[in-house]
Order: sequence, then C-alpha cells, then structure tokens
Amino acid sequence: MKPDLTTNLCGIKMSNPVVTASGTSGYGQEFSQFYDLGVFGAFTVKSITIEKREGNPTPRIAECTGGLLNSIGIQSQGVRHFIQKDLPLLRQYNVPVIVSIAGLSVDEYPRVATILDQEEGISAIEVNISCPNLEADGCSFGGDPEISGQIIGAVKSTTSLPVIAKLTPNVTDITAIAKSVETCGADAVALINTLGGMAIDIQTRKPKLANIIGGLSGPVIKPIGIKMVWQVYNAVQIPIIGIGGIMTWEDAIEYILAGATAVGVGTALLQDPWVVFDIIEGISEYLEKNGLNRSDDIRGKIKLPETP
Ligand SMILES: Cc1cc2nc3c(=O)[nH]c(=O)nc-3n(C[C@H](O)[C@H](O)[C@H](O)COP(=O)(O)O)c2cc1C
Repeated sequence: MKPDLTTNLCGIKMSNPVVTASGTSGYGQEFSQFYDLGVFGAFTVKSITIEKREGNPTPRIAECTGGLLNSIGIQSQGVRHFIQKDLPLLRQYNVPVIVSIAGLSVDEYPRVATILDQEEGISAIEVNISCPNLEADGCSFGGDPEISGQIIGAVKSTTSLPVIAKLTPNVTDITAIAKSVETCGADAVALINTLGGMAIDIQTRKPKLANIIGGLSGPVIKPIGIKMVWQVYNAVQIPIIGIGGIMTWEDAIEYILAGATAVGVGTALLQDPWVVFDIIEGISEYLEKNGLNRSDDIRGKIKLPETP
C-alpha cells in the first residue's frame, strides 16, 4: 500500500509535507504555467510588505560553489496588490496558501496581517523576521529573541490564522529565538533562511552583488539547516518546516529525521521546477521500502550514538 503523505502542520491540512520556500516561486504565476500548484503540500509566497518596495539594486544574484547568493531584498507590490492581483490565481488551486509577510518596523507586521486576515483562501501567515538584506533595522529583528517574540505576539493578536515564524540562521543561538517565538504564540517555525554571504569578482575587484552582502542558499547550507532544525526540535514543542539546501528526496528525509514536520524547497526550484515531483515520490518510496505509512513515523527519529 502507498504511504499516506498527508501532513497536518499546525492545523494546515497538506496533501504531502513538501512546501515552497518563500521567494523562490513568486506568487505562483510562473509555476502555474508548468503544472498544477496542487502538487505542493502548501505554497508559500514571496514576502509581502504593507507598501510597494523595489527591492535592492542589480546585480542581485551570484552563483557560487554549492549555492547561490542573492540580495533581492524584499521586492513587493504591497499587500493590496497581492490581494487583488495574485491571491485570485492561488485560490484556483487546491493548495493551502501560506502568505509570508515582512516589515521595516515592528508595527508594519501586524498591519499587513490585519489586512490579510479578512481574505478568503489563506491558510497561514509566515512572518519573515529573518531577511538579512533589508537596508533598514529589519536586518536585526530575527537576531533578537525579545523583538522576534514581540513581532510574533503582535501578529498573533491580529489574526486567527496559524502564525509561522521564519527564523534566520545568522544568530548565535537559534534555540533562544525559537523558544521566544513559541512563548509569544507562534504555531510553527520555519528554518533556515539564507546565511549572510559575499563574493568578489577578482578581475574587477568589485563585489558581485550591488548590495555587497547577500544571502547564501542551496546545497552548501544544508548541514547548517539540519543542525539548526535538530537543535530547535529539541528545544520547542511546535512543529518545524525544515528548509535549506533541499535538492533531492534524500535531503528531505534527512530534515524529517532531524525533526521537521514539513520541508521547504527553494533554490532547487529555481534550478528545476519539476524537482518537486521527484522529492514527493522519493519520500513515498523511502517510507514504503522501510515498511512505514507516514512521514510522521520518522520525524526526529535520528539514531544518536549511545552515551557511555
Ligand atoms: C531568490 C531568493 C529569494 C528569497 N526571498 C525570500 C523572501 O522573500 N522571504 C523569505 O522568508 N525567504 C526568502 N528566501 C529564503 C528561502 O525561502 C529559503 O529560506 C532559503 O533560500 C534556504 O532554502 P534553499 O537553500 O532551499 O533555497 C529567498 C531565497 C532566494 C534564493
């Protein structure tokens, strides 16, 4: 019998545990030309701000060994544009929509969430407290447990939707941030966002990104993501979306063994939008071969060395 991949992530009912990582598949328009967005367990949109923002200057993408540096920043048409122009398309698909929100100040987050709360067809709000490349104070929100908790608490008070805190790895102790957002009401955490990085063109001696510093994603960050998911799994009770360098179904299984309930795929989708089919199929076959019925059966089931 085929394993049952249905996944319940803090009340979000998903057909499988594979979701898009925010910012790597826009608002679904491009991918919907390739296939039915209902293939994903959930579709997470690019972070949305209250007003329109242009994002950072170009060039803002640079490939590097084992990954990708980006300094897109939060490019957003604003929340009202999203509701009028993007949400109607997403509503046509049988897929839970997770709306990622970002802000330049603590107050902006609940303002965006309040507007979204009135709309049909949204399954959860993901709060991007972690974007490392905003020019304003935004870069430090996710590094401070107290401010991170404050933002989550403020968003929670405006909405009855599940609230997911998207955490940055650019911190000393990610468990402190995870515990704080849990205490302030987060229903789940998603981690990791990109790691701060930089690259220099040795011929021109100029930084490869106009913003100088960007965020590193892709396979090179996977071991960091696995470590942080495992640490957070052992520190909080709320479910985890494991993200960072997932290119194959094996990577997805690794995250689930580390403690993830769902997995987010980002850079891999930029390289090959169809990879999602292989990842879902691979998870199913792995479970079947191991005589298991659900991915929950292996969640956090890493076998640790015996302590002497
Ligand atoms: C081009 C690009 C844009 C991104 N934009 C966002 C964003 O708007 N909000 C967010 O929370 N994360 C954003 N991310 C981070 C991803 O959601 C993900 O956390 C990160 O890339 C690690 O996963 P990956 O290695 O599978 O790409 C972006 C990543 C990339 C590569």
